Amino acid sequence: MNEEFDAHEALVRELSDPHLREQYARPYNGRKIGLVPKILAAFLVGSGTLLYGRRPSYGKFKAIEVIARVPYQSWEVAAYTLVSAFHGNEKMAIELCKTSAFSRFAQDNETMHVVVISHLARRKKDHGLFRFTLIPLIFALIYFWAIYFLYMISHKAALELNYLFESHAYEQYQEFIDTNEEMLKQTPVMSDFLAFYGRNVKSEYEFFESVRNDELIHRNRSIRELEVRGTRIKPSFEETV
Ligand SMILES: [Fe+2]
Ligand SMILES: [Fe+2]
Repeated sequence: MNEEFDAHEALVRELSDPHLREQYARPYNGRKIGLVPKILAAFLVGSGTLLYGRRPSYGKFKAIEVIARVPYQSWEVAAYTLVSAFHGNEKMAIELCKTSAFSRFAQDNETMHVVVISHLARRKKDHGLFRFTLIPLIFALIYFWAIYFLYMISHKAALELNYLFESHAYEQYQEFIDTNEEMLKQTPVMSDFLAFYGRNVKSEYEFFESVRNDELIHRNRSIRELEVRGTRIKPSFEETV
């Protein structure tokens, strides 16, 4: 495994300490977000509530995770398109390649979430072809292109929308852990994919804690990408040749 993976996993373990988690979350709590990402996030969260209920559940997490991994791939494809169009701009290419590296890593992490949670939802019989598979798949396809174009138009709006979506995921996992603590602590996790990914947990409690921590990292990284790389990628035509 590479250094980035090891550093991420070490941070995930640290964030299980409530004090360290609070310290890590604090600088990015309650960020001021633009109107467009706010409206889009309200639509996304509202659709999830309408289809799967307000309370978190295995089935709701499975559906949300199918959709939550999509932005990272959209960003990568959008960044790839921008590098193709403006390959003469070295500075911009470096920034876009950095965004791609983060989004590739997050894609693998979110893929682990969706595969393992689908496995757990099946065991709990909290699944179904139409509501939990087909609807999220169709939604994910539309969402992929919506985020692709949003990223091309406004890098900032795409990252802020992700911040809100990941905040919601973080809160839902926390609520799930708080509500089901005893049951989760008594349930072991047996998943070949989790072992393949390289994460070791003893129980579903530890697994859902680690996923919650992943979502907090994604939330903070979405804003940090903006702070480090600037709010807008501005190409010029002279730089395309
Ligand atoms: Fe996730
Ligand atoms: Fe996430």
